[in-house]
Amino acid sequence: MSRGHFITLEGGEGAGKSTQIKRLASALEGSGIKVVATREPGGAPGAEEIRNLLVNGNTDRWAPMAEVLLHTAARAEHLDKTVMPALKNGAWVISDRFSDSTMAYQGYGHGVDKGVIENIYRDVFGDFKPDLTLIIDISPGVGLSRAGTRNQGEDRYERMGDDFHQRLRDGFLEIAKADSKRCVIINGELDEDGVFAAIKDAVTEKLGVKI
Ligand SMILES: Nc1ncnc2c1ncn2[C@@H]1O[C@H](COP(=O)(O)OP(=O)(O)OP(=O)(O)O)[C@@H](O)[C@H]1O
Ligand SMILES: [Mg+2]
Repeated sequence: MSRGHFITLEGGEGAGKSTQIKRLASALEGSGIKVVATREPGGAPGAEEIRNLLVNGNTDRWAPMAEVLLHTAARAEHLDKTVMPALKNGAWVISDRFSDSTMAYQGYGHGVDKGVIENIYRDVFGDFKPDLTLIIDISPGVGLSRAGTRNQGEDRYERMGDDFHQRLRDGFLEIAKADSKRCVIINGELDEDGVFAAIKDAVTEKLGVKI
């Protein structure tokens, strides 16, 4: 069985990641592809427990480096229990956030040394990388007002302030520019159909699959 593809969706709060993952998963399934949709932090039972520690509570409850390590611990569990088995099984795995969020939120957002974040990733996960990363770009004002209507708690990062969210956006755009082979920037301010059309184009162009 050939290894499946690993696609990640990234972007700030309310960019439309969860909405577009549902659409992408059903379009791929409609083309006969086996899909596992998952998320970070989380995506495996132990990783979901760590998620609760990260997305709830006071904004200053963790030292920034502790956040990096908690996200990394959750990711180790997620890869071991969910992502790797699914890829080996030939499924396509679509993850709502992955390591670029750690660089954007803890590196660009909280100011943790970016080299340290890169080294931790490489020491723990080696060369493993997504095959395609869709970075949904949106102004923080539009994203946060959308996320506000989503309203299901889990808003610790949403409460981190306007400057933080602007640094995230800038960070995601820099990450995308530095790795343009893997990353595609998607304009998240289009309507849902427009965003999805851009996502389908990116999947076709980068992974050679027409959906
Ligand atoms: N292109 C769009 N135009 C307008 N509204 C949208 C669009 N995409 C999603 N929405 C709406 O915005 C809200 C946030 O979308 P969604 O939950 O998909 O974002 P997200 O990136 O997953 O957010 P979070 O980071 O908070 O998980 C939802 O209410 C959704 O219906
Ligand atoms: Mg979401």
